[in-house]
Amino acid sequence: MSASTIKPWVVGNWKMNPVQAETTQLVAGILDQLSASDALAACHVGVAPIALSLMTVKQQLAEKSHEIAVVAQDLSVKAGTGAFTGEVSAELLKDAGIDHVLIGHSERREMFGDSVEVLKQKLVNALAAGLKIIYCVGETLAQRESGQANDVVMQQVKDIADCVSDLQWQQQVVIAYEPIWAIGTGKTASPEDAQAMHANIRQGLSVLTSAASQVAILYGGSVKPENAEALAACPDINGALVGGASLNADSFCAIVHAFAASK
Ligand code: PGA
Repeated sequence: MSASTIKPWVVGNWKMNPVQAETTQLVAGILDQLSASDALAACHVGVAPIALSLMTVKQQLAEKSHEIAVVAQDLSVKAGTGAFTGEVSAELLKDAGIDHVLIGHSERREMFGDSVEVLKQKLVNALAAGLKIIYCVGETLAQRESGQANDVVMQQVKDIADCVSDLQWQQQVVIAYEPIWAIGTGKTASPEDAQAMHANIRQGLSVLTSAASQVAILYGGSVKPENAEALAACPDINGALVGGASLNADSFCAIVHAFAASK
């Protein structure tokens, strides 16, 4: 099953970076290269700054482009408003005009205790508030080496399947396959291995939803300008979730152009 008609996504995950002055420069650099380019018609583009910068980045982008999405890196397990110190709910993100959120990044799963139950609750809250979700999955090196990668990744997709309707798969959920051994390590899955996993995810999705051919599946893990074209050429790779290389406007925009040109 191919999904080559899906409009690709390239999303920069800035993680806990950078300081304010560099953030302003980074956004200005991205706008310089993308706001007048055809790439934004061919590719969804998003950036995920630290929570403190969501609104300033949104405002800076809006001066030149309403097409670049601002993506929250996380949201609360708690919904609505209330006495939950330190938390930001799906509704409060939506209220502030932030329409996209990452859920399930391996750094949240591994370092901050985001269990399957927590992730499901976050997903349910985000869906109910009308947010678009980039749901991250991926195996460890040990799991890959012991031949469990397909099963582990499919289980992570199945974990959320009972919370997502066909319409929500069509309109609100994007999957990002990020092998943990490739994140921030400079090691990328080969385009063949990534394509094989993406095809496996799409095949598994087809059992879970009639919308499987419409779900964008992004690849993440040391995506850079040098490997973007080969990844973008794979039929089931519908975009990239980019960490390190998204902190530089030139390399991020080169990746956007590679995906925009390929589809
Ligand atoms: P990386 O990070 O591109 O630096 O490997 C990707 C991610 O964690 O989303």
